[in-house]
Amino acid sequence: MHVLVLFAHPRRASFTGEVADTFCAGLASAGHTVEFADLYAEGFDPLLDAEQFGLETSLDPASPRPADVEAEQARLDRAQGLVFIYPFWWSDVPAILKGWFDRVWTYGYAYAYEADRSRTTRLPIRKALALSPAGHTDEKLDALGLREAHRKVMVEDRMLGVGIPEGRLELLGGLSGNLPEERRRILAAANSLGCAF
Ligand SMILES: Cc1cc2nc3c(=O)[nH]c(=O)nc-3n(C[C@H](O)[C@H](O)[C@H](O)COP(=O)(O)O)c2cc1C
Repeated sequence: MHVLVLFAHPRRASFTGEVADTFCAGLASAGHTVEFADLYAEGFDPLLDAEQFGLETSLDPASPRPADVEAEQARLDRAQGLVFIYPFWWSDVPAILKGWFDRVWTYGYAYAYEADRSRTTRLPIRKALALSPAGHTDEKLDALGLREAHRKVMVEDRMLGVGIPEGRLELLGGLSGNLPEERRRILAAANSLGCAF
């Protein structure tokens, strides 16, 4: 499968960057091809401006989208797999990735309404994964309901909700103590997820 990996961390040389490296090594060892997109390094603009807001709310699937959005959609069109790798910030994705959804999941591409009010999509992605290291322990993420809240948003809404048949969240908690064994455990889990994608 050809997999588009969207990386959203201000530092490529970060723990999240190591998670991305070991995950991509797993993908490659399983025979997948990878296109790696570093949203910060590429200078992706996450702000939906007044002009694009007008296009989105006109609900006209034929209206042209900004060139940078069309470029994002062109690389999605080359992929069957989609992976988001980001640090868990304030119980959500970093703002640059939130803005990616605002701007790239456009009406007429990610979703459209038919006459009978059913939703359709032109997205070619068959399988998606959100992979995110987190400071809180796994126990705390579960006890506070934060893992399930994030799963609903990432998987139910931003994946299954735009017609991707298979979606999954892997929130890898336990980083706040900065313990080497926790880091090793998370990196091993990320590698296994790449191998099994
Ligand atoms: C701005 C900011 C907000 C954060 N918010 C959360 C949070 O809501 N829940 C959590 O478990 N960890 C949170 N963390 C911790 C990060 O998830 C954790 O440090 C990160 O995954 C480690 O990756 P890094 O070293 O590559 O940045 C936050 C960290 C930062 C910098």
